[in-house]
Amino acid sequence: MSEPRKILVTSALPYANGSIHLGHMLEYIQTDMWVRFQKHRGNQCIYVCADDAHGSAIMLRAEKEGITPEQLIANVQAEHSADFAEFLVDFDNFHSTHSEENRELSSQIYRKLRDAGHIATRSITQYFDPEKKMFLADRFIKGTCPKCGTQDQYGDNCEKCGATYAPTDLKDPKSAISGATPVLKDSQHFFFKLPDFQQMLQTWTRSGTLQDAVANKIAEWLDAGLQQWDISRDAPYFGFEIPDEPGKYFYVWLDAPIGYMASFKNLCERTPALDFDAFWGKDSTAELYHFIGKDIVNFHALFWPAMLEGSGYRKPTGINVHGYLTVNGQKMSKSRGTFIKARTYLDHLSPEYLRYYYASKLGRGVDDLDLNLEDFVQKVNSDLVGKVVNIASRCAGFIHKGNAGVLVAKNAAPELTEAFLAAAPSIADAYEARDFARAMREIMGLADRANAWIADKAPWSLNKQEGKQDEVQAICATGINLFRQLVIFLKPVLPLLATDAEAFLNVAPLTWNDHATLLADHQLNEFKPLMTRIDPVKVQAMSDASKEDLAASQTDTGQAAPAGNGELAKDPLSPEIEFDTFAAVDLRVALILKAEAVEGADKLLRLTLDIGDEQRNVFSGIKSAYPDPAKLEGRLTMMIANLKPRKMRFGISEGMVMAAGPGGEEIYLLSPDSGAKPGQRIK
Ligand code: 2FM
Ligand code: ZN
Repeated sequence: MSEPRKILVTSALPYANGSIHLGHMLEYIQTDMWVRFQKHRGNQCIYVCADDAHGSAIMLRAEKEGITPEQLIANVQAEHSADFAEFLVDFDNFHSTHSEENRELSSQIYRKLRDAGHIATRSITQYFDPEKKMFLADRFIKGTCPKCGTQDQYGDNCEKCGATYAPTDLKDPKSAISGATPVLKDSQHFFFKLPDFQQMLQTWTRSGTLQDAVANKIAEWLDAGLQQWDISRDAPYFGFEIPDEPGKYFYVWLDAPIGYMASFKNLCERTPALDFDAFWGKDSTAELYHFIGKDIVNFHALFWPAMLEGSGYRKPTGINVHGYLTVNGQKMSKSRGTFIKARTYLDHLSPEYLRYYYASKLGRGVDDLDLNLEDFVQKVNSDLVGKVVNIASRCAGFIHKGNAGVLVAKNAAPELTEAFLAAAPSIADAYEARDFARAMREIMGLADRANAWIADKAPWSLNKQEGKQDEVQAICATGINLFRQLVIFLKPVLPLLATDAEAFLNVAPLTWNDHATLLADHQLNEFKPLMTRIDPVKVQAMSDASKEDLAASQTDTGQAAPAGNGELAKDPLSPEIEFDTFAAVDLRVALILKAEAVEGADKLLRLTLDIGDEQRNVFSGIKSAYPDPAKLEGRLTMMIANLKPRKMRFGISEGMVMAAGPGGEEIYLLSPDSGAKPGQRIK
């Protein structure tokens, strides 16, 4: 027996200012399945994560909500933790980058880098918002594109013509926070001298730590020559102050990866058997893997190993990079109802369906993964319900009725049982290599063989014949043993199914090595359905609810919800439209007959509107501005009357009323001048 491996695993730290969605879940589910596989095999594998709690986006969001950043990050941490737990993502620790451990480690690493000569300082000139009294990151400046003249473009690139530029090139720049015209101002910044590590990175990135596609991309950056990295931000900033430099703060990306260490350190403090240095010390023999998306490769494969090397810590064993999630072949879209929050999914569907679907499509590459909702229903129903669970439900009844639930010792298919045993190393290799798709293919291949064998033996027919009962018991006992082996192979992906199967099989929690043994002369417990088919209606309801989330968030913020990457979401593009398109919109004066809160919806009001020739039922996300909805009754407003009716969780919305304002209490329902009559068209 080889010694158990010591492995530390992380997933990227989610920003503490937004909800987790199914794109995020791809990474956490992938990592969790790998970690569970390692634990299943008897290795010591520790999985840590944390919320990424610093930066100006979080500071500004808290300000907007009228709470402190500490309150905001505590609220978000509670929400994130609940989402992860319900998706069965089993962290050994979920901490925060705004923690004492992280403050100490960040300061210590910075001091070591500084004392070894890897920090430089120089003055830089940046836009400064004279009203907010803060320097503006590029994404907080808007202006007119210097190339094509499109207005309202962000400070680093134009969404219309694709030009990239410096914020100082923008015409008529404005602060996106206050609207003030920014002024140029100098300040002293601190830089990490990344070029000092060029040689080390050239070797490290080619030493099996990265997938080939990632190593090739990094090689391009290395060939182009590395630049110093600006690691400081000026007050006001929500983060850690740089030691000995009052008013200067670490840039969020400096202390974020140190958050991996801090979360582990926090776990060590509560777990005497765990030794921090055994995992992070220069001579550590433990393995260290970071699972990340392809958008943050530079931080993990260049800056992070260089910081670790420069401050005397070990470097990662591997950076495991995955692609993005698309839904129905396209980028997740709020208007199509495919921007699905973790919570919205959980309101409608079981987490294991998604875990299995992701597993069935996740290879070891960096390709994007498509969640095709029709294929999702079809695959889960056919593989998990139709193949795996079906074996147990076909066999259990005969054992309970014919032999009081005792599984006999006879193996009716020694060759098939042997084939299952022989497949185990290849399935394990696939899991180890993060080729979950291959593991699932091989497991389902075995399930197909087991089902074909049972169909061929047809115990349901034999059971009707005289003197065949022993044979029926042998077939069903073998079927249940094959099912048990499949459950062992699937346990990292489907831990709940495994727990329920263990209860039915009346066995202790199964581990990988249990696949080598069979149950014999063994009492089973009552069989309960282990998994039900996905009802496509629930998938539709999930999409509808996602559209409803959008309705609420658009009214709230006046723009699409943040992209989940910690940056302020960009305004949706507003392309010019033809007059005909405008003329096709049926705008009407509407009389509010009834306005009432909707039970179970935080932000919606249900409005009954008179538009002259008919009444309409419209849901509108304006409750925060009209806490006493009855006051709206009798008032005129304006509505879009020919908007396609939309099915929402609470009923059908037949149009949209028009309101202005940034959201929250500041929503202003539009009204015509007095004299207008319900049903009149707006021209
Ligand atoms: O891109 C992001 O969502 C970051 N919050 C990830 C940080 S990962 C780590 F370095 F902390
Ligand atoms: Zn442009």
